[in-house]
Parts: sequence; C-alpha cells; structure tokens
Amino acid sequence: MGSASVIVESSAEDAARRAAERVAEVVNDRAAGAPEAFLALCGGTTPGELYRRLAAPPLVDAVPWAKVQVFFGDERDVPQDHVENNYRLVTKTLLDHVPVPLAHVHPMPADCRDLGAAAEQYENLIRRLVPGGPDDPPAFDLVLLGMGGEGHTASLFPGTPALAETRRLVVAQFVPVIGRNRMTFTFPLINAARHVMFFVTGPDKARAVAAALSDDEAARARYPAARVRPAGELTFVLDAEAARQVPDALKRG
Ligand code: 6PG
Repeated sequence: MGSASVIVESSAEDAARRAAERVAEVVNDRAAGAPEAFLALCGGTTPGELYRRLAAPPLVDAVPWAKVQVFFGDERDVPQDHVENNYRLVTKTLLDHVPVPLAHVHPMPADCRDLGAAAEQYENLIRRLVPGGPDDPPAFDLVLLGMGGEGHTASLFPGTPALAETRRLVVAQFVPVIGRNRMTFTFPLINAARHVMFFVTGPDKARAVAAALSDDEAARARYPAARVRPAGELTFVLDAEAARQVPDALKRG
C-alpha cells in the first residue's frame, strides 16, 4: 500500500514522543486554517505516554487547545471513574493538564442501560458538530487509533457485526472475545477522516501491523485494521518491535 506514511522509532518511548509531535503538528495545521480542529482519541495501554507528552512542554504550548474539540473513537461499558474507562485515561494523562474548554470534551456514554440509543445520540452529536460534505460523513481532522494483536482497532473486533456497517457512524455491540459491550466508531466514520494515525508498539502487534499495511485480500478479511483506508492521510507511528514485519520499502525514519 503506497499511500501510508510509516514512521519507525527504536523504542516505545521515542515512538510516543514522535507520535505526540505528529499529533500536535496535525492539530496545529488544521487549527491554523479553521475555527476548530476535531480530534478523536483512543484508549488502551499504549497511548498514555503519548498523551502525557502532549500535556507537557514543549508540545503543551504548541497546540491551540481552545480550538480543539475532543471525541472518543471507542469506549468500554464501564463508568467514567472506572480504571478501564478510556475517557478517564485521557482525562488523567491529558485533559486535566491542558486548557481545552470543558464544553469541547465529548465522552462516549458507554455505561448506560440502552447502549443502542446512546450510540445514536453520540452519532447525532458528531453529525451536528463535526463538519462534513453535503452527502459525506463528518470528517474528523485526526482520528488516533491503536491496534490489538489480532488486528482489532477502536472496538472493531474480528467477526463482530460492526465490521459490516456501511451507514451508521457509531454503534454499540457485544464483543464475545472479551465478553463485554463496547461503543465504537465504524469504518464509514474512520475512513472519512482527513487524517488517521495508528500509534502501535510491541512485538505482539508486528503481524497485525504488517497486515494492516498490506493490500492482501485475506489480510483485509482477517485483520479489521487493514480496512482503515481513509479519504485523507494515513500515518503509522511504530516502535521497532511493532514494525518488525513491515517491508523496509515502506518505512521512513
Ligand atoms: C480500547 C482501544 C483499543 C486499543 C487496542 C490496543 O478501548 O481498548 O481503543 O482499540 O487501541 O485494544 O490496546 P493496547 O494499547 O492496550 O494494546
């Protein structure tokens, strides 16, 4: 796949620094030419260091936080004060330390009784706030994604119904492999973005990363991340372990 930019750093820490710099650049470029920049963030164990770097000098002063609107690409069905909650992670590592207006922060309501209705509500909020073309889905300026070893991204897990969604932008679904409900962006929304950035580290992700960068039909069928093909830019920021199976021709320092 020729259009992705693959950035590889030797360590996970350097990759987090590089990814934070790249997020700041993208948000800055966007905010320079528009009233607001629309960001969708991810959870999991990998992005914490990225968020901490964004919240610290020099990057914290390099981003016009007052113009940033923050959404979430997926969420677990736990309360906001639960240790597994993505909003909690992002709040503790980033939002508590940067001057983003509270009204610009939009947590996903994934712990309520009627998850389906809540997903529709969140989709309507995105349709109302995030600009898109007349017939096109809303276009985020940056969607940040992680990846599981089996190739899931956001909460688009192999074999789950959300993979086949072509109309809805946000859905809730039960994920048998983890035995939990999740709320997640769908491919139509992710692929409408101006910029999608994968930040992935660790040896257990190497095969899924290589599959996500290939155009192989079997890989696309097996690894959901291989179906992330945005209208805009696609960037992978990886450490050397996660990039181990990526062809050298695709890598740049
Ligand atoms: C989540 C994420 C999810 C994550 C992957 C990788 O809510 O868990 O949004 O898609 O990015 O599961 O998780 P790790 O970073 O923990 O490996």
